[in-house]
Parts: sequence; structure tokens; C-alpha cells
Amino acid sequence: SSTAKFFVGGNWKCNGSVASVCKLVDELNAGTIPRGVDVVVAPPFIYIDYVMQHLDRDKYQLSAQNAWIGANGAFTGEVSAEQLTDFGVPWVILGHSERRSLCGESNEVVAKKTSHALAAGLGVIACIGETLDQRNSGSMFKILDAQMDALVAEVKDWTKVVLAYEPVWAIGTGVVASPEQAQEVHAYLRQYCAKKLGTAVADKLRIIYGGSVSDTNCKDLSKQEDIDGFLVGGASLKGATFVTICNAAG
Ligand code: G3P
Repeated sequence: SSTAKFFVGGNWKCNGSVASVCKLVDELNAGTIPRGVDVVVAPPFIYIDYVMQHLDRDKYQLSAQNAWIGANGAFTGEVSAEQLTDFGVPWVILGHSERRSLCGESNEVVAKKTSHALAAGLGVIACIGETLDQRNSGSMFKILDAQMDALVAEVKDWTKVVLAYEPVWAIGTGVVASPEQAQEVHAYLRQYCAKKLGTAVADKLRIIYGGSVSDTNCKDLSKQEDIDGFLVGGASLKGATFVTICNAAG
């Protein structure tokens, strides 16, 4: 199991408007976050400036949802890890299943993005997970291994990585992994890391769960030995609900 601080990320995805972001920031500011929990919110790029200026950053840190694979240059429509650090954004989510499936990001691309972002000084929430077909056909561990192998080949320093296990079948579906299903994979991933990176790294690595996390299922999930936090999508768009999830541990 991990010895690290509980970590909760709110991935707003491509949601929100000026009005709704303003409201959500107010709701979050009204919430109480325990001292021992890292909470990171990831707005769409265009709202990061507003959120940075108005969100209580004693309680919440900021993340982007993606970054370019390399440094600044002629890459129309992209934002680099260097620009995120320059702007004061400390985290980035990389390898989310939506980017893997909708934008064609391979294991290798995600791994290269991760090492580039780490080198630029960001913390990385690196996402992995299997589809339902892969789980049902018995190839889940093989798929997870391939996703992890690519990361392990590129990432030398894991201290600023948070690993997010997000089974694709649980994302946005309302079908949450059971605490046992999630724990099985989290324990597997920690063992994998112990084998490839050593037990010191594996013990400190935060492995968080994502996929239909809600204010009603978060408590049971958080009791599992190898679940060190959550990556929350839909439920992170409601301030009070998200704050409840941030208070799930302890
Ligand atoms: O990154 C978090 C996400 O993919 C989970 O989404 O809506 O199922 O909580 P959701």
C-alpha cells in the first residue's frame, strides 16, 4: 500500500462556460478541504487564467488536461508544458482515455509527453486503463502492462507522477468499478511498479481511481488499501459533490 498523501483530481473535460466556471469556483471556495489531501482541478485551457485568479489556492491546485509532446514552436492549436510551468500551472493530465481513443494518442506518445512534461517541471497525472472488451477477453493485464511498459521506458523520476487507473468502461457511464475490482488492479499496478522501479518508488506512488466516482461510492473505494485518491469527471462539475469526494478519506 502507499504511504503518500491522498490525491483528488477534478477533470472538467471540455465542459463549462464563463458563467458555470464562475459558479463552480465559488462553490469550491466555500468547501472545506482537509489539510492532508492534495486537490487538483483541471479546467479547459481557456478558463485556467480565471480559475487561477479566483480559486482559493490554499485548498486547490491547478492542472491542465493535456500538453504538447515537445517545447514551443510551430504546433498550431497546442499548449506546451513549458507554457504551463511559465504560467504557474503545476500539473497536467496525460494519457486520458478520451485522448487515446479520440485523438489517437498511443502508449509511446503518452510516455513521451509524460517525460517531456516532467522535464519541464510539471507534475503528471498519467492515465491508463482497459476497455470492457479487453477485460472480458482476459487481456486486461496485458494491456495495462503495455501502457505501463511505455511509461517505464521513458520516465526516470517517478516522484512527480500520480498514476490514474481509469477503466474505460467506467468513465462517464455511471458503472463504477467495485472496490474489489479497483483494488485488484491497483494492487497489481503497485506490484508491477515494485518489480520495475523498486519498492521505495512503488510505496510512495499515488495510484488513484477514476470512472464514475460519486459522493455515494467514494467512501468505500477510499477504504481500499491501494487506492490513494480519485480522478473525478462528471461529479467534479458540482462544487459540493466534489468537496464531499475530497473528504472521502479518513
Ligand atoms: O478523468 C476522469 C474521468 O475520465 C472519469 O469521468 O465522469 O466517469 O467521473 P467520470
